[in-house]
Amino acid sequence: MKFTLQAQDNFSRARAGEIETAHGTIKTPIFMPVGTAGTVKAVHQHELVNDIQAQIILGNTYHLYLRPGLDVLNKAGGLHKFINWDRPILTDSGGYQVYSLTEVRKIKEEGVTFRSHIDGSKHLFTPENVMDTQRIIGADIIMAFDECTPYPCDYNYARRSLDMTHRWLKRCCDRFDSTEPLYGYDQTLFPIVQGSVYKDLREKSAEKIASFNREGNAIGGLSVGEPAEEMYAMTEVVTNILPKEKPRYLMGVGTPVNILENIALGIDMFDCVMPTRNARNGMLFTREGIINIKNEKWKDDFSPIEAESDLLVDQIHSKAYLRHLIRSQEILGAQIASLHNLHFYLWLVNEARERIIDGTFYDWKNKMVVKLGQRL
Ligand code: GUN
Repeated sequence: MKFTLQAQDNFSRARAGEIETAHGTIKTPIFMPVGTAGTVKAVHQHELVNDIQAQIILGNTYHLYLRPGLDVLNKAGGLHKFINWDRPILTDSGGYQVYSLTEVRKIKEEGVTFRSHIDGSKHLFTPENVMDTQRIIGADIIMAFDECTPYPCDYNYARRSLDMTHRWLKRCCDRFDSTEPLYGYDQTLFPIVQGSVYKDLREKSAEKIASFNREGNAIGGLSVGEPAEEMYAMTEVVTNILPKEKPRYLMGVGTPVNILENIALGIDMFDCVMPTRNARNGMLFTREGIINIKNEKWKDDFSPIEAESDLLVDQIHSKAYLRHLIRSQEILGAQIASLHNLHFYLWLVNEARERIIDGTFYDWKNKMVVKLGQRL
């Protein structure tokens, strides 16, 4: 993997760059559509490539390990081949899903035991076996196994958890560095900064994470319920310490406004289920603000979903029709709304990128933050 910084904003810490992977180049800042179980829900690979030009998607170790399972993924020759996606993939380690999706779990020094949310079966994730699993899945960028602390989180718990996440990171790196990729192309491992909302813990974690000297770094444990201002404060503390010449990935963030503010703080990569999950409930992100398409107000609005957009479904279908589809829980409603929202997120980060390059990012960002916070 290679990261090249191409431009830096004069009025904020925003940057534009390029990440080269074995499956192609990613232009940053980038948003990565979430494809948890080997599919970006309700959006086909053909649409990701041709309609919205997605450059990288995300998969989840936790889900893929449980189903279809490592045997199938290995026999398929990895996730890229299994799902027929030849662009970059990043996999999360399960260090978030085991906490958010499983009820019965035990966190110990060795790792985390949990019960599957699918059939209740018992499993153990350790830093070592999570590296092996991500070798089998075969993503270009894989994530360290960490503990994502909840919010609020007691200081002493956050401190002890952080120390364990750092010890787990050493074990992740040892395992990753002593194993080979299985499918003939390179993979890279990103460590994750934790530390809840405590400045001193975030500083300590960022310094520790930077000392591992990996090819990119991530920030976790945010967007877990804390106020946006606390999130931005933590991002700022951490981006002041993480090296400039490596990509920075803010995990699980966020709303369009969160993304713009964090780009301004020096973040290069984002992922979030919001555009796809909220689409299925009728929340649409547009350049003018947020729409709840189920609202009575759109009942007989036959104007295009978004006239400004260059996405086919935005131009050829009306708000009234999409409202009807979503209210009737028609599958096509989820498809159109998901594609629309992902197209919007990718437009947003690409626009940010172009404005960082041409020097107009900061004013544009401030105007967009006001617009995108509005409910229409
Ligand atoms: N996704 C969102 N937040 C996190 C985090 O803190 N850790 C991991 N592994 N994934 C995340």
